Amino acid sequence: MASKIYQVLMPFLGSKSKLLDSISPYFRGNVLLDLFMGSGAVSLRGKVMGMKIIGGDVARRSKIFGIAVIANNNVRISEEDVASLFVPLENNGFIQKNFVPEIFLPETAKVLDNGFARAKQYESPKREQLEYLLSKFILSGRQFGGFQVGKKDNEMVMQGRIVELIESVSSEARAEKIAASIQPEYKRLVAIKNKINRAIFNNGEEHEIYQTDCFDLLDKLRKENRKIDTVYMDSPYRGSQIYSSHYKILDQILEQKLNVEIDDTAFNKNNALENFDRLFEKASFIENFVVSMGYNPNSDSGIKGEELLGVLQRYKPNARLITLKHQWAIANIAKSGRQENNCEYILVTD
Ligand SMILES: C[S@@+](CC[C@H](N)C(=O)[O-])C[C@H]1O[C@@H](n2cnc3c(N)ncnc32)[C@H](O)[C@@H]1O
Repeated sequence: MASKIYQVLMPFLGSKSKLLDSISPYFRGNVLLDLFMGSGAVSLRGKVMGMKIIGGDVARRSKIFGIAVIANNNVRISEEDVASLFVPLENNGFIQKNFVPEIFLPETAKVLDNGFARAKQYESPKREQLEYLLSKFILSGRQFGGFQVGKKDNEMVMQGRIVELIESVSSEARAEKIAASIQPEYKRLVAIKNKINRAIFNNGEEHEIYQTDCFDLLDKLRKENRKIDTVYMDSPYRGSQIYSSHYKILDQILEQKLNVEIDDTAFNKNNALENFDRLFEKASFIENFVVSMGYNPNSDSGIKGEELLGVLQRYKPNARLITLKHQWAIANIAKSGRQENNCEYILVTD
């Protein structure tokens, strides 16, 4: 059952879904704080391991996953729930107005506008589940959920040139994605809801999800004298893509406005090491740390393992560095050099 559970995850930039077996053996105790949840892959692994999860991220896209799947122990999406998204409801037409044909076909945009308006009528966690269902629908088929391509494809589909479009693309995978994108929305949503439902289970713990900046969340938990056994930190990498740029359109749709501000660049910028120092200091009340980072020796923008280890050892003298075998996909590293030299490492304190 375990591996099917992870099909619930979104295609997510920097997801640790493929590294869970290397990272999770370092989790100690019963309470896991996942400070940068992203797709929620690591929180989900912690939940599978029977831990209590406290998950945080500045972005709403992560919070809805946390409420829909991590904190939710028993509510599932029914076929009637999916059908209800199609029952016409007056709405603001936000997606139709702003993202056709650049991102969506007109019919898909109409379904999404109606669906998001319908989802808002439900109580939590069904509301977040339906928002997550629609978000996963939007991201599936896009490389790491990115929105860089689409307009030309959409225009050809709108002109009825589907066969010509599919024949014109060189990669089989891309042709399949285009073919999938013209399947009826209902059918695709039902397939996604089945993946979500498979990941709903109760591990006997109550979980907590916060849409909060990592520094503020640590302050809050320390002030409340909370017991946390392991903190997992997987911030954006210095010099890599900014999450709120990559997911801008999804974030705009979730907030239903064009100017969404997410303060998520503290670890992307040149002064990232100073922010790590502040982060480690604030988290030092927690005994066990697991910190993820990636590094590309051909690029001068990243942070070397030894360098980050030096900062962590100011607070956790027993910290050590473990290099994992993993290659990022090119999209995750702006201005990077050759991909085959990329490596992923973790710092652990046990
Ligand atoms: C590398 S991703 C995490 C990936 C995640 N571990 C996974 O497996 O999917 C980094 C995440 O940090 C979030 N983030 C960036 N700055 C943050 C901050 N100051 N506080 C909390 N979250 C932040 C981003 O929104 C993004 O979701």
